[in-house]
Amino acid sequence: MTAKVIDGKAFAANVRAEVAAHVARLKAEKGITPGLAVVLVGEDPASKVYVKNKHASTIEVGMESFEHRLSAETGEAELLALIDRLNADPAVHGILVQLPLPKHLDAELVINRIDPAKDVDGFHISNVGLLGTGQKSMVPCTPLGCLMMLRDHHGSLAGMNAVVVGRSNIVGKPMAQLLLGDSCTVTIAHSRTKDLAEVCKRADILVAAVGRPEMITGDMVKPGATVIDVGINRIERDGKAKLVGDVHYESAASVAGAITPVPGGVGPMTIACLLANTLTACCRANGLAEPKGLTA
Ligand code: GUN
Repeated sequence: MTAKVIDGKAFAANVRAEVAAHVARLKAEKGITPGLAVVLVGEDPASKVYVKNKHASTIEVGMESFEHRLSAETGEAELLALIDRLNADPAVHGILVQLPLPKHLDAELVINRIDPAKDVDGFHISNVGLLGTGQKSMVPCTPLGCLMMLRDHHGSLAGMNAVVVGRSNIVGKPMAQLLLGDSCTVTIAHSRTKDLAEVCKRADILVAAVGRPEMITGDMVKPGATVIDVGINRIERDGKAKLVGDVHYESAASVAGAITPVPGGVGPMTIACLLANTLTACCRANGLAEPKGLTA
């Protein structure tokens, strides 16, 4: 079997186009422009690239982008004061504090200072609790993107066996909650799971989010399964820099029914869902109907 390739780049472009159409209507009919504030502390090179891309995508869909770049020496009180100002600013509907923060700052304290209604990352403890109890929340962007692609490919996910490999707060745990919300039978596996291959092989839906290059190989995949690869790992092979996922693509694609590639799979969906979440937050803040198909 050769798996169908799930084109995340094309899917993300469709999501961004849908968001842009909603934003244009909001502006024309209500005079409202959704606004996203991104806070970057320090000079982490990867974070700088992410923030630049987020800014460009925000502008491209017609939203307002508010960038706040602070020095690596910024103190906790100054950062919290900025978040308080953004919480109170009616032009700001979404707030994202780029992680990782410099070591002297307490990321949990900072994230939990964000108004949960503006927490477009879905990392605030209130949103984590709301998602865990099946209530309306802001949902973390990467798992939301994975869910959208799975729903698009399968329609209903009810009754499917889903295995999530990885238990991070940002991907693994919320992914499992979302799959449970769509009535999958969910297993969370991780680095200490016994006989990981056997556990993975039971999955109709296999989500790899462990951060280990090419750890999931074809012999761990059930024939016909849908494989979602969240990993983005920079490795060197044959003297060249290469981007690979947590899944060994060639061997898995020969067994799976459908698979997301790296790059061009889950990656582009993260920013698309950040924009979708900002639009959702803006609609909620203004008592308007939420965009359909862009939320969990
Ligand atoms: N750093 C890497 N990915 C993310 C993300 O999705 N959100 C935030 N806030 N920081 C990140």
